[in-house]
Parts: sequence; C-alpha cells; structure tokens
Amino acid sequence: MCGIVGYIGEEQAAPFLLGGLQKLEYRGYDSAGVAVYNGTGLHVVKSKGRLSVLDGILQGGRALPGVVGIGHTRWATHGAPSDVNSHPQVSDGGMFAVVHNGIIENYLQLKNHLLRRGVEFVSDTDTEVVAQMLEYYYKGDVLEAIGQVTDRVEGSYALGIICADCPEKVFAVRKDSPLIVGLGHGENFIASDIPAILSKTRDICRLRDREIAVLEKDTARFFNADREPIEKEPERVQWDISAAEKGGFEHFMMKEICEQPEALRKTISPRIRDGRIVLDDVELTAEQVRRISKVFIVACGTSYHVGVVAKYAFEKLLRVPMEVDVASEFRYRDPILDEDTLVIIISQSGETADTLAALREAKKRGARVLSIVNVVGSTIASESDDVLYTWAGPEIAVASTKAYSTQLAVIYLVALYMAQELGHTPPAEMAAYIEDLQRLPDLASASLADKETIQYFASKYFNAKDIYFIGRNVDYAASLEASLKLKEISYIHSEAYTGGELKHGPISLLEDGTLVVAACTYGRLFDKMMSNVREVKARGAVVLGITTRDREESLKQETDYQFCIPKITDFMLPSLSIIPLQLFAYYVASMKGCDIDKPRNLAKSVTVE
Ligand code: F6R
Repeated sequence: MCGIVGYIGEEQAAPFLLGGLQKLEYRGYDSAGVAVYNGTGLHVVKSKGRLSVLDGILQGGRALPGVVGIGHTRWATHGAPSDVNSHPQVSDGGMFAVVHNGIIENYLQLKNHLLRRGVEFVSDTDTEVVAQMLEYYYKGDVLEAIGQVTDRVEGSYALGIICADCPEKVFAVRKDSPLIVGLGHGENFIASDIPAILSKTRDICRLRDREIAVLEKDTARFFNADREPIEKEPERVQWDISAAEKGGFEHFMMKEICEQPEALRKTISPRIRDGRIVLDDVELTAEQVRRISKVFIVACGTSYHVGVVAKYAFEKLLRVPMEVDVASEFRYRDPILDEDTLVIIISQSGETADTLAALREAKKRGARVLSIVNVVGSTIASESDDVLYTWAGPEIAVASTKAYSTQLAVIYLVALYMAQELGHTPPAEMAAYIEDLQRLPDLASASLADKETIQYFASKYFNAKDIYFIGRNVDYAASLEASLKLKEISYIHSEAYTGGELKHGPISLLEDGTLVVAACTYGRLFDKMMSNVREVKARGAVVLGITTRDREESLKQETDYQFCIPKITDFMLPSLSIIPLQLFAYYVASMKGCDIDKPRNLAKSVTVE
C-alpha cells in the first residue's frame, strides 16, 4: 500500500505535499517523491528511503516552487525500493507524472504492447505503464486519455495525475484503492486518507470505482467511467485533527493503546438503550435472525483474531454453527453459503484487498454481509448489506490496538443483539452480559493503570530470542493476537498455542529460560492451564501468567510473574487481557529500539493481494 496526495491552489504545493505525505507515511515508507508543475514543465524529485530524506533534499519543499503537484510515499510491490522505482513515474516524453497506490495486474502485457511501439521504460514498476499509456493515448484530452487507460488496466489503482499540457489541473481516478478529494477555498486536494488534508479542509468527496476527478483551484468536477459528468455530494469529516496526531505520546501505538477505554465507550454506549442492544444501522429482524443457519467471520490479521474470539461468543449465546476464516483462504476455497448464511466481514481500514474480495465472493453466493469497519465510507463499508462502525477514530500505528478492542466490542454487541432477538437467553443472564459490556471501558482503564509492571517485565525479557503464548478457549484467541503484536513490532520470533496442543509438538521448542506467557483468565479451564504451566516450567520455561484478580494467589504459586485483570463475562475477557499483552509488545519493541509505528516490511492497510 502507498500514500497519495495532490494539491492545486495558490500556495506552494511542495511543502503541503510533504506535510500530507508525513500523515500518510504509515501507508508505506520505503521511498517518497513529488512532482510539481514549476511554470515550464513537470519537475520530479524522488528518493529511496524515509520521507525525511526527500524532505532534506527539498529543504522542506522550498527547493521545488510551483502551485500544482502530486506526492507519494511508497511500499514497494513491483520493483525494489530505489530512486528510479519511486513515484511519481513520468511518461517517456515528460507529458504525464503519475502517483499510484495499488497493483496493475496486467502491466506486463500492457508494457510489452508499448515496448513494441517504441516506448522506452526506465523503472520496474507497474505504475510506469500507466504514465506511458496516458501519453500514448493522449490526443489533447486528458480525461479521454485517462478513460482509455482505465478501460485497459486490470487490478487496483488510486492514481494522482498531472499533465504538462494542463498546468492548471490535477486529475485523479481510482478502483479498489481508496482516494478522496478535499474541497477547499481557492484550493483543492486529493489524498489516500483524510489526515493528509485535514489541516486544510473537512469537506471531502469519496471517489467510487472508476470515477474520475478533475480539480482546478476553484472547481472540482467528477466524471463516471464513460467520461460523463456526475454530481457528488460532499461529506463533512467530524473528527478532529488532534485525533491523527501523537498528542504528547512518543508513538501512535502507545497513544492508541491508551485511547482504548474512550474508543470502547464511543462504540458501545450509543448502542445500549434502556438495558437493550439497539443496532440502529442494521436491519436484522427477529425473524431474519431466526433464519440464519450459519455465520462466517472473514477477515485478515488482527481483525481475523477478533473473529476467533467471536466464535466463542456466538456459539455460547446463539448455538449457531460458525466458521472463522482468513479472507485470503475464504475467497479461494469454494465456501458453502446460501441466503440463510450471515457473513460478518471485519476490517479496520475497510480496504484490505483479500477481505474485499471475500466480501464480493460472499455476496455473489447469495449470503448477507454485515461488515464491522472503522473507516467511514470505505469500500468494504459501502459494498456491505449492513455496516456497523467501530468508533475508534483514526488508527495510525501499523500495529492495530484500538481497532481490535472496538471490533471486539461490536462483535459482543452483534452477538448479544441476536441473542436478544432470539429470546432464548434468560433475561437476568442477558442483563448481566449487557451490564458487563457497559463496564468494559472502565475495566479497560483499570487494566491500563499498571503499565509499570509490564514495563519492568519487558525490561527483563526484551532480548529474548523466542517467546511463546499459551491459552485455552478465549485465552487462546487473545494469545494469537498477543503473539502477532509482539512479532510485528519487535521482530522477536513468537508463536501462540492452545495449552492442550503443547505436548503434541511445540513443547520440544522449550529450553532453559525460554519465556512463556500463559493467559489463564478463563476460569473454567484455569486448572488445566496450571497443568500446562507446570509442564512448561518443568522444561525450564520462565512463565508470566495473566489471570483475573480472584485467582491471583493461585497463579502466584505456579508462575514466575503475574499480571491481573478485572473479572468480566468469559467471552469478553480478551478485551481486558489483551491490554497488558499490547503493552508488553510495545515496551519490548521500544527497548529494542525498533521503529514501533512503522515496523519493517509492513503497511497499515494491505490494498493489494
Ligand atoms: C496487525 C494488523 C494487521 C491488520 C490486517 C487487516 O496489527 O494491523 O494484521 O489487522 O492487515 O487489516 P484491516 O483490519 O484493515 O482489514
């Protein structure tokens, strides 16, 4: 995934583009570049490395005068990170400069076609094909050239384009990759994501697939794939710019970990009224709930781990069969679905390529799709039958934390809503669940209160070579997420296993001093977990145990270190146990000196397959 930004107005473009790219750096950070129309032609400056390298070359933008431009921060897909493969890519004759997020799947075929016609290529990127095709099809009408190109390219793209012949315009088009247009006064913008332009405007239009935007400083016009003019209704961004800034924290990740209680409150409280779950945004009658014969949860990464917790909640409350699948598998495995299947799609960004493809596959097969999404108006949100938003606010750190917590909260809301509509659960039990859900934000605050214990523990083990997480039932689900969090930001090898699986293989990995984190919050299997703890300790492991406060004393007898969380309904336990585990990953990565918000090889949203 990459970040795109564009500007047209009366101010200098380059300083704004660099500022916008800084807000988008979470989307990719192996190279960056800008192209500006400087009065005589398109001037491109780009460089391998972090944005700070480009910023230095451009002296904060001062070295590249001009009031029209596009910028890009890259996460390499086609061609290694290098100066020449960085964007903007420029056409052979210098007529077009293009920035791109996505993948042109048939680029080789298109490239060969142009090579046979004498076009010379300089980079290994799929994006250069777009720039070259634009010039090839350009006969004096840029809109038409863009249409000719999008008629031919396959794959996903968000494109920002400037043309030497039209120095007073910025063009944009997208398919399956996000792109917004920002509307200002005497200036207009394009960007992959809102934070890039929020310092300038709150009025945005989202481009839908194959829609084209033509921006001049005082106008923004839109066209459909047939190049016919269309009207678009602007929407107003409600959240504040401070939500997308660090606000005194050293890293976005820590800020977002600490924002979890508030994010939970915003996600949960409007949906509970008079002791009942109210999902205003969803049309799911009691009759429809009764007809659901199977539920699928489909997602990737951390969002998938929410699905693993969901299985316990849904099966407990609804006794309906449920499958949880990673989207990249689901989309290719010929799943058995029909109109009585509910498919729940979970995605923070709402743009993950595999998740989007899974959604489309599910709809093609007749299933009803309910999505749980954080980014308002994202592609997944707009293509689903129903959407429930997580009100986590912008999540900037690559490692997901508050999105996970709020996705879990929405899962509980959906499961409880369906149970409420079915009416099988005794009222007192329902009331207790709903009460616990309402307490969740405060209990999350309580779990955050003792950061020092985790920090101290991290200081002792940040040099570990391998770390294992074990748990049973919902504790296993939380362990999967804890292990992912640790490995993605600290680069320490880590695995999660169910306690019961240890002796079927993984226990052979343990050596004297290996760190094992045992999540033992699920009361019914606490004793079983203590047996597992004894097994690993007998092989030399050092054990950090996590449990609920009522079991602290028992845990102390078996483990080397302990962390306690408040007690809550079983299936909600991961919402609390994950907090010390997120903190652990954070502190370990911080002590190792890792780039916490932008871990190597990763990008915030994976808009390519
Ligand atoms: C891990 C992480 C990823 C995402 C995954 C899905 O911290 O953030 O594993 O969870 O790429 O992304 P979304 O939820 O945007 O579909």
